[in-house]
Amino acid sequence: MTKKEKKELRDKKREARKIQKQLHAEMQAAVDVVVERTCKEEGTENLSGYAAVASANSPELEKKIKKWLKKTGAKPVRIIRGPKTKDSNAPEEDVLLELRNLQKYFVVGKNLFGKPTAYLKAVDNVSFSLKKGKTLGIVGESGCGKTTMGRTILRLHEPTGGEVWFNGEEVSKIPETEFDKLRPNMQMIFQDPYASLSPRLTVGTIIGEAALEHGLVTKENYREYVLDVMKMCGLQPHYFDRYPHEFSGGQRQRICIARALALKPQLVVCDEPVSALDVSIQAQIINMLRDLQKDLGLTYVFISHDLSVVKHISDEVGVMYLGSMVEFGTKERIFNNTLHPYTQALFSAVPVPDPHMKMNRVILKGDIPSPVNPPKGCKFHTRCDKCMEICKKVTPKYREVEPDHYCACHLYDTPEELQEFAAAQAAEAMLNAKKDKKEKKAKKAKKSKK
Ligand SMILES: Nc1ncnc2c1ncn2[C@@H]1O[C@H](COP(=O)(O)OP(=O)(O)O)[C@@H](O)[C@H]1O
Ligand code: SF4
Ligand SMILES: [Mg+2]
Repeated sequence: MTKKEKKELRDKKREARKIQKQLHAEMQAAVDVVVERTCKEEGTENLSGYAAVASANSPELEKKIKKWLKKTGAKPVRIIRGPKTKDSNAPEEDVLLELRNLQKYFVVGKNLFGKPTAYLKAVDNVSFSLKKGKTLGIVGESGCGKTTMGRTILRLHEPTGGEVWFNGEEVSKIPETEFDKLRPNMQMIFQDPYASLSPRLTVGTIIGEAALEHGLVTKENYREYVLDVMKMCGLQPHYFDRYPHEFSGGQRQRICIARALALKPQLVVCDEPVSALDVSIQAQIINMLRDLQKDLGLTYVFISHDLSVVKHISDEVGVMYLGSMVEFGTKERIFNNTLHPYTQALFSAVPVPDPHMKMNRVILKGDIPSPVNPPKGCKFHTRCDKCMEICKKVTPKYREVEPDHYCACHLYDTPEELQEFAAAQAAEAMLNAKKDKKEKKAKKAKKSKK
C-alpha cells in the first residue's frame, strides 16, 4: 500500500467513526438498524466491518443515513433492521394488516407531452384493519377493484397513495429491496390455477423453489420439506416429479396453495381461489383452507363474488363498489343488519334453498358506471332506489354506524349534517335566483336600448 493509499484509508476510517458518532447522538439508546459498510468495491478490505449503527424506525432517518454514507464516498452494502420500537402511529398489536386510504389509480390517458390526463381509480381510499388469524371476505361486482386491492397490498402494483401497515410496520413506502424480505410473509393465490403454474417445472420444484431461494429450507432437507407441505395440502408424494398439465383443476389449486404455504406466510390473499372449480371441489378447497388456517394461524383476505362462500369462511366482510369500500364489519353485523343499499341488493340476489320462500330481490338498475368517470357524490346514486338530493352532490362519509360496522351512505347522516346540506342548498338557490334576476334585467335594458 502506498503512502497516499494509507492516508486515504486513515481518512476514511476517521470519517466512518464520525458518522458512527453522529448516528449515535441522533438515536441515543435506541439501536435499531445496523448499516454495515465495506470499502471492498474500492479495494480497501481493511475497512470492512466498520459499522454505523442507527435507528431506522422511520424511512426518513434511513434516507439520512444513506445520504451521510454517500457523502463520504462509501455505499452501505446491507441495512439490517434490528428490534423495532413501536411506532406511535402503528395499529394495535393483534392487527396484522391495516389499510389507510389506500389508492391505486391507473393512467388511462396522456396528452402529447406524455402527461397523464385521465385516471382509472381502481382502488379509491380504502381503509380497514384485519386481526391476526382472521379472514376478511371481500365482495363486489366484477371490476370493482378487488384484485387490484389485493395486488396493491402485496405491492404487485405500486400504490398511488395511502398506507399499508403489516405487522406494525408501514410497508407501502419502504424500498423495494426491504419489501422483498417481507414477501414470503405475504402470499397470493390466484383464480386460475393453471395460468399461474409454469408448465415446464415439476410440482416439487414449483412448491419448493421459492422456499429454497429465501433460505427457508436447506438443499439437504428440501425434498422432505416439500413432501411435508404437499401432504398438508392433500397432495400425494408421487406427484413430486409430475407436471401441472397432468392434474385436474382442484389438484392444481392445491399445488398453488402448497407453493404459497411453503414460504410460511402470515397473510394469504386468496383471489377467487375456487371460482374456476366445480362446486364439489370448491367445498374441499374451502374446507382445506379453513383447516390450514386453524393449524398454521394464517390470516386471509378472501376475495370472492360468491356470497355463500364468503359467509362460510369469513370473520369480517368488506363490500366494494367502484373502487371504494361501501360497507365493512363483522360477518354477523353485515349479514344480520345490512346497512348499505348496494349490499342489500347483492344479498337479495343470493338464491335460497327453500322453493316456497318468497325472495325480495332488489334488481339493480343500469350497468356499473365507468371507473374512469365515476358519478359525482355517492358513486352508487345512479343505481340506488333510495337516492336523495344530497347523494348526487356530496360524497358520503365512511363512518362507524354501530360498533364494528362501517358504512358510507347518506341514510346514516346525522340530522345536523342533513340540515347543513339543506341550508347550503337554500343559499345556492337564493344565489341562483339573484343571478337570474340580474341577467333578465340586463337583457331587458339591452332590448330597450335597441
Ligand atoms: N393494469 C391495469 N391497467 C389499467 N386498468 C386496470 C388494470 N388492472 C385493472 N384495471 C381496471 O381496474 C378496475 C378494477 O379491476 P379489478 O381489480 O380486476 O376488479 P375485480 O377484481 O373486482 O373484478 C377495472 O375497471 C379494470 O379494468
Ligand atoms: S348515499 Fe344515497 S345513493 Fe348512495 S347508497 Fe346511500 S342512499 Fe343510495
Ligand atoms: Mg378480480
